[in-house]
This record gives sequence, structure tokens and C-alpha cells, in this order.
Amino acid sequence: MRKVILAGNWKMHELIEDGIALAKCTEQGVKDLPINVIVFPPFTAIHPVFNVLGSDSKVRVGAQNMHYEEKGAFTGEISPLMLKDAGAEYVILGHSERRNIFGENDELINRKVKSALSHGLKIVLCVGEKLEERENGKTEEVIKNELVSDLKGVAKEDLENIIIAYEPIWAIGTGVSAKPEQAEEVHKYIRSLLDEMFGAGSGSNMTVLYGGSVKPKNIESLAKMPDIDGGLVGGASLKCEDFVEIGRILTKVKGL
Ligand code: PGA
Repeated sequence: MRKVILAGNWKMHELIEDGIALAKCTEQGVKDLPINVIVFPPFTAIHPVFNVLGSDSKVRVGAQNMHYEEKGAFTGEISPLMLKDAGAEYVILGHSERRNIFGENDELINRKVKSALSHGLKIVLCVGEKLEERENGKTEEVIKNELVSDLKGVAKEDLENIIIAYEPIWAIGTGVSAKPEQAEEVHKYIRSLLDEMFGAGSGSNMTVLYGGSVKPKNIESLAKMPDIDGGLVGGASLKCEDFVEIGRILTKVKGL
């Protein structure tokens, strides 16, 4: 079911105490907003943040990555069981920083997607093109390749546990977000692709977020686009006031 979601990807930021303070401030700020809010702390802060929020909190907790196996000789990795044990309900998969800095390919991401689903974790699956790909008219091709490969073998019923985040790589952390119309065009395309892959109506039922330099000053115009259901926010999710303000604007624009 399609929802309005505000998600905060803290990336490699926040020590435990600061993470707890940020989560508490976020919870306080969004508690009366009728939208869904998820924060993605670094691994070390997941459990402390979950503990302080509690299992009934309006602010849900997720992880930024995971390994696909439950356990084993995988030095430095974290399994889906460990994430659930720590209180994570969601996991971000396929973030462009995982793809580009750590060399994750679609085959690996697909394994992770299937593993997360089979362990009852909800997924935020990120897709998006590089500037060069956009300039060469390859945006749709890139998105299609990613979505088709990453969701290979996924059943239609599983789509309710998957959120798509369109994150043009050139807009991440740059301060330059996609223009609302540019993002809307891709969101529309993503929905049509999902219809093609999973049957008519699949695309319009899914939550598709925009990510890439989302700030209080640009969320209004982005959220006015009919196919943008919310935001996956990096930098601005570390500033409680900004993140909450994005939530307030999202609530207003979506008429909730
Ligand atoms: P940004 O990051 O908001 O700092 O651009 C978004 C993301 O990478 O999810």
C-alpha cells in the first residue's frame, strides 16, 4: 500500500549518544505528523536508538546495509538476523554509495533483497543514474537494468514490503536536487516499469521516494509531484529541525 514516508539516512554519522539525542528530537518533532518516519542509524547506534524509542514509536528504525547470509565466516559483515535482533525493521539496499564505493553489483543486491524479504525485513531499494548517464540519455535504461536485476525472483506479494527510492547520483550530497519535473518523470517511469514487471496496478500501489539533496527549501515543490511519495534524506536528516520541517511540509503538501 502506497504511503507518505520520510526516511533519514544518517550514513556514517553519529556516535551512540548523539544518535540517541537525534532520534529523541526527531520523535518529539514528528509525533503529531500523520506520515511514516524511519531513521537509519549506523550499525553501532541501531540498538541504542531502538531501545530509547521503544517498539511502539512513531519513528521506526532501519539499517543501511546487510549481508545476505544469516551467519558464517564473513568478517566485518552484519546479517539480517543481527539487524532484527538489534531492532531494525527496515534495511536500505542498493544505495549508490554501496554500489560505487564498495563495488556492490545488481546480483549481490538481488541476493540481499531476497534474503531481507525472507527474514521479514522491509526494504528501501535505491536506484539512480550518474550524471554522465543522464547526459547520454541513459537514465531509463539504467533504472530499468537496476530494477529488473535487483527484483529478479521477487513475488508480487512481496512488493508491499519494498519501497523504491529514486536517487539520481548527481544529486546526492551535492546540494543540487533534481528538478521536481525531472524527478517526477523518472518516478512515473518506475511505476510503469513495475506495472510491466508485476502486472497492471503494481506501480501505483508502491511507495516511491525521491532522494538527493532534499532540504526544507525544496521538499515542497518535489512533494507536489503526484508520483513522489516522500523523501530519503541524507544530510538534512542529521539536523533535527530540518528533518522535522521536511516532515511538516510533506504533511501539508500531501494534504494529510
Ligand atoms: P543527501 O543524501 O540528502 O545528503 O543528498 C541522500 C541519500 O544518499 O540517501
